[in-house]
This record gives sequence, structure tokens and C-alpha cells, in this order.
Amino acid sequence: MTQPILVTGASGNTGRRIITALTARGAKLRAFIRRSEAQDVLVPLGVEDFAIGNLDDDASLAAALQGCGQVLHICPPMHPQEDVIARRMTDFCATTGVNRLILWSVLHPVISVPHHRRKLDAEQYLIESGLTYTILQPSRYMQHLAGTWKSVAESGVHTMPFSTSARFSLADLEDLAEAAAIVATSPGHEFATYQLAGMDALSQGDCARILTGLLGRPVEARKRPLEDFLAQATAAGMPQHRLDNMRIMNEHYDAHGLIGNGQLMQWLLGRKPNTFAQYVTREMLAQK
Ligand SMILES: NC(=O)c1ccc[n+]([C@@H]2O[C@H](COP(=O)([O-])OP(=O)(O)OC[C@H]3O[C@@H](n4cnc5c(N)ncnc54)[C@H](OP(=O)(O)O)[C@@H]3O)[C@@H](O)[C@H]2O)c1
Repeated sequence: MTQPILVTGASGNTGRRIITALTARGAKLRAFIRRSEAQDVLVPLGVEDFAIGNLDDDASLAAALQGCGQVLHICPPMHPQEDVIARRMTDFCATTGVNRLILWSVLHPVISVPHHRRKLDAEQYLIESGLTYTILQPSRYMQHLAGTWKSVAESGVHTMPFSTSARFSLADLEDLAEAAAIVATSPGHEFATYQLAGMDALSQGDCARILTGLLGRPVEARKRPLEDFLAQATAAGMPQHRLDNMRIMNEHYDAHGLIGNGQLMQWLLGRKPNTFAQYVTREMLAQK
């Protein structure tokens, strides 16, 4: 605990939450950022130590690791080089004397979705590296609702590009961050791989029913055509590799959902993980 924990992806959605949870536990941190302006959002969260660099740049990565006791590596989502970056990160941790690498992976890295498979490769490389590690496998975040909340609340339609009956063990990012902070700041999690899922496997239909109860007016679940979703993403400038990944991911979700088990999260947190209703009440309804 005397040496800093380097957090990559620090300025992102996941990184900011985890940093908040880590600083609440008194952890000493170093945030790896690629834009100096990112300091503006991280200083108020209690970060004082920054390493400015790029995950694609070995020199900046190696420099950032100097003096760190641990690394919590959060790769940018669907990065086409995620496996390569994770391998280099693992090697650099080993050569710079980092005690443990905590890898932010994903629930079921084994499924045939490109970014899951790249995380699987990262896990395998880390396990075989001989480095002390903890692998965290978070489920789909409840916070995906934030991107469509305005339209859901106004139109009464909850729409995602997969079946309304496909089920997901949605997890509250607040819980995931707390679990990550516990793992990073307490002993006993060496060489563990933890599935971090919510307790309830919810479909869009289930979410719509919960929203109906919370909003006091009908919310209907409707499958959005995948082509329509991808066309909008294309127009917004999403790169082709990510569009391809999105297509495969949403087709997989449509057929299988993404279901895990919340018991490990409950054990780590020492309480029940938050429900979807609790998340919506705290982060969405409080905005009104
Ligand atoms: N969303 C989910 O439901 C879910 C579930 C399980 C796992 N995950 C995983 O969680 C991870 C993080 O997702 P997120 O939503 O937090 O991502 P995000 O909000 O997009 O944040 C990405 C972060 O990576 C940084 N970054 C991007 N490219 C970089 C580079 N070349 N070098 C250094 N930093 C770079 C960004 O910095 P800037 O601020 O400069 O852009 C930002 O801090 C992903 O690996 C994803 O697969 C997500």
C-alpha cells in the first residue's frame, strides 16, 4: 500500500468509478492518461500522481510503471490491439518489479466475440507469465441505460439491438468499482479469477417492467434492428473494426444474452449487489 497503484483507462467510465472507490479506501494512486486535460476530471477525485502516455507507446508505459506496486489495467473498449497491449503490460510489470497486475477483463471471455477473445488471450498470457495477478470479469454494466435514458423516459420505449427476452446479469458499475477497490487494497486475492455479475438475469422486457414501476407510466421493450443501430454508429464515425465487433457482439447477445452468477460479487462486497431498480433510482431518477 506504500507504492502507488497504476490505473490505466483512468479517465474513462470505469476508471473514474474505480478511482473514486480506491481513493475512498485510502489507496495511493497513479493515473495513466493520454491527454493532460484528463487531470481536470481526476484531480477532484483525489488523484495527485499522473503518468501521461499512450498504451501503444512502450516507453511511456515502462516509465509509468516505475515505482508502482500494482497495476489495475483497464483497456479501452474493443481496442483492436487489446491482447497485444495486455501482453506488453504483463511483460513490463514483470521487468519493472510490479507486485501484482489486476486485469479488468469481461464476463465469459471465452465466447466467440472478438473483444472477449482478446481478453481471453490477455488472461492466458498473464496466468502463464508467472506474475502475481487477479483477474476481474465484469458483466454488462447497468450504466448502458444512461446513453438512452432521455429517449426511454420521453418515448416510453426501451430499445437495444437484441432480443427483448435475451437475459443479462447486469451489474452496477458502482458495485464493480467497489469490488475492484477491495481486491486491490486487501490481501488474499492473489491468483484469483472473479466473475463479477449482478444477482438478477434481466431481459430488456424485465428492465422495461421495472422502469414502468419506477416511472409510473408504461415503458415497452422493443428490439432495435441491428442494421439501424449500425447505420447510426457508422454515421457517428465509429471505425469499421468496432462496427464489425459490435455486429458480432449484438448477434451473440441476441441469441444467448450474457448470464453469470452474482454470488462472488456478494461475497466480495459483503452485501447484496445493487438491483437494477436501485441503480435507476440513484443515477437516473435523481437527475430529474
Ligand atoms: N461496458 C460494459 O458493460 C463492460 C463490461 C465488462 C467489461 N468492460 C470493459 O471495460 C473497459 C473500459 O470500458 P469503459 O467504458 O470504461 O471505456 P471508456 O469510458 O471508453 O474509457 C476508455 C479509457 O481508455 C483511455 N484510452 C483510450 N485509448 C488509449 C490509449 N491509446 N492510451 C491510453 N489510454 C487510452 C481513454 O482515455 P481518453 O479519456 O483520453 O479518451 C479512457 O480513459 C473495456 O475494456 C471494456 O471492454 C465493459
